Amino acid sequence: TVMEQLLGVRSKEKQLCKLLGIDHCLIVAGDATELPKVLTDMGKLVNETLDVILPHGENIIAVMGGTTMAQVANSLTPKLAEKRHLIFVPARGGLGEAVDIQANAVCARMAVHTGGQHRVLYIPEHVSEQTYKPLLAEPAVKEVLQLVDKSSAVVHSIGEAIPMAKRRDMSTATITMLQQKQAVGEAFGYFFNQAGEVVYKIPRIGLQLRDLERIPSVIAVAGGANKAAAIKAYAQLAPQQTWLITDEGAANLILKGA
Ligand code: G3H
Repeated sequence: TVMEQLLGVRSKEKQLCKLLGIDHCLIVAGDATELPKVLTDMGKLVNETLDVILPHGENIIAVMGGTTMAQVANSLTPKLAEKRHLIFVPARGGLGEAVDIQANAVCARMAVHTGGQHRVLYIPEHVSEQTYKPLLAEPAVKEVLQLVDKSSAVVHSIGEAIPMAKRRDMSTATITMLQQKQAVGEAFGYFFNQAGEVVYKIPRIGLQLRDLERIPSVIAVAGGANKAAAIKAYAQLAPQQTWLITDEGAANLILKGA
């Protein structure tokens, strides 16, 4: 019955939380890599979760980029902004993503879908550290970084290490290094191994992993069987208060101990 199915999912969510050591896990049916609808369902769940956990009034929401985040943006609704003033800000810039999935684009889309506001972080995607460092002194950059600092929520995804490095055009030398160090996952520009040890970090500005600890609401949204290892590894770095929004494709594999 529907009730049994629901209870089954709830018990799986509990097991997953226990295994991953985080406070909240929500699982949608299916596998996002096989069916696009699953990603939409995850997006809807992000919307509902934010609606439950965000306080009324002003909320600065720091967001990351990626294909998952771009889809999540489409699932946000004006209901979220009914009793809230929402400002979406890019959590980090310059990771090297294509324009339509950059954090800036995701923020703009989230603002459109909710009726909230957004800010842009003007950091070019493919420049050296010497080039972007002086940009930190720019008032427009500073203002956004200060907002990021005050954010009440963060929404981000988790990716597989090597596919992420390749998609972001990282150098062959860096990709080889990541392979040697057995990087399995990536989030916020941090690459980590199965034990949850950071093996490389893209030297960019904005939100850092350690900053997450003091942010009241953290939502990690990632699904698909291919991301199971990355999610499991990231959970060891994730702050306790994290809400993991995932699918059966990833959850079943993690629970099997794969
Ligand atoms: O940091 C993680 C990646 O941004 C995930 O990217 O949503 O396109 O798989 P994706």
